[in-house]
Amino acid sequence: MRFHFFPSLCAITLALLTAQSAVAEADIAKGKRQYQQLCAMCHGRNAEKQAFDTSAVIAGMAESDIVTALEKRKNGEIEGAGNTVKARLSEQDRQNLAAYIATLGE
Ligand code: HEC
Repeated sequence: MRFHFFPSLCAITLALLTAQSAVAEADIAKGKRQYQQLCAMCHGRNAEKQAFDTSAVIAGMAESDIVTALEKRKNGEIEGAGNTVKARLSEQDRQNLAAYIATLGE
């Protein structure tokens, strides 16, 4: 009797695991929206500008480099004019933004 739960428990666990890996996947459309709202004012509409004439042009930067750059500014390892905005990003936001920015400048 007790073991009748087992198949449904397996199904639930599987569903949860699948949902989790879906969350970790970058959402480029979300990244684009967030980029336009939070980053474009300094880095340019297509990430083609040097923010405050000091940053690198970030269009087409490698995804992992963008994630690292954002983490370093979030934790204060690198100080810059955009850090207030960068400090508020979640890990998922950083993934989404990086995936989007990496598609620019191709
Ligand atoms: C207020 C202006 C401003 C905003 C808003 C801003 N940034 Fe920046 N960003 C800068 C400046 C200035 C630098 C260069 C200084 C530094 O190293 O942080 C920089 C650096 C960077 C770098 C590292 C580039 C390099 O030089 O290696 C990345 C990546 C980046 N920004 C991404 C973003 C993203 C993504 C957003 C939106 C969530 C954003 N920035 C919002 C001003 C801004």
